[in-house]
Amino acid sequence: MTRILTGVQSSGIPHLGNILGAIVPAIKLSKDPNNESLFFIADMHSLTSIRNPSSLKENSYATAAAWISFGFNTEKNIFYRQSDIPEVTELMWYLNCITPFPMLANAHSFKDKSSKLHNVNNGLFTYPILMAADILLYDANIVPVGKDQKQHIEMTRDIAKSFNNIYGNTLIIPKSKIDERIMTIPGTDGQKMSKSYNNFINLFLPEKKLRKQIMSIETDSKNMEESKNPESCNVFKIYTLLASNNEIEQMKKNYLDGHYGYGHAKQTLYELILNKYSNERSKFNQLMNEKDLIEKELQKGAKKARIIAQSVLKRVRSKVGY
Ligand code: TRP
Repeated sequence: MTRILTGVQSSGIPHLGNILGAIVPAIKLSKDPNNESLFFIADMHSLTSIRNPSSLKENSYATAAAWISFGFNTEKNIFYRQSDIPEVTELMWYLNCITPFPMLANAHSFKDKSSKLHNVNNGLFTYPILMAADILLYDANIVPVGKDQKQHIEMTRDIAKSFNNIYGNTLIIPKSKIDERIMTIPGTDGQKMSKSYNNFINLFLPEKKLRKQIMSIETDSKNMEESKNPESCNVFKIYTLLASNNEIEQMKKNYLDGHYGYGHAKQTLYELILNKYSNERSKFNQLMNEKDLIEKELQKGAKKARIIAQSVLKRVRSKVGY
């Protein structure tokens, strides 16, 4: 049995980048009968950016509803909310005490975020250690993530190896699994799609608002008649992640031929999203109207997750000398 574990941050309703980069590939893996999957909502990581208690709660429900609407089976798998298993913060402390400061100071994600944000809190700095605790607390073997998280998994491996060096074999060394085709999902401005850059597409929005987000994708200022370069266009880049090969070829041809405006490409992308995700969109909205159902699922998952967490933590405590 291989134990697969991944988490998604609940800093908002999961956007297209979260869905294609994490949720869809993780659900695919969870269907393999040789895998045991643990998926969780990283609502403690969300606290690095969210200060509003009701948004924090609401976002977790929205995240859970997104996973369930994309077909995640909560019977076969373990589906939980990070904050329901407080053991993770205790493990985080043990890991904190063996993690070299420069490892965190040099993390790409921290450097990137701290250069863009107004307020840089320490949670953002120690974010990778909480992430290491998320993974190591459950003896995970494989961690499917987007390319941007690769360094965090490498840090997790390094931290686990140093723990084992100091205290003897205790923690399982996990491996990352990166979907190369997906790589980084571009946002409406061409940077990585991210809640913090406010450049995301939310698949679950009502039609009008969804269309507005898609229409806001930035392009160059070529006029309609001109031939256009598909490879450098954000609309085309996002389209290639969702469309069939034939559809992609057709749009490519339209770009190169000219007499095809960016507005046409955006409309085509919008219609594709509505068609492709019509079931997921309605299931999501149905669950968001019945949050008790979501809460029940999460409690069921927390019970199962906690059994594993407590046994690993017991092992760790005795190793460090408690
Ligand atoms: N940092 C991840 C992201 O933003 C989310 C996350 C938190 C995670 N803990 C994790 C992913 C543990 C995998 C394993 O995408």
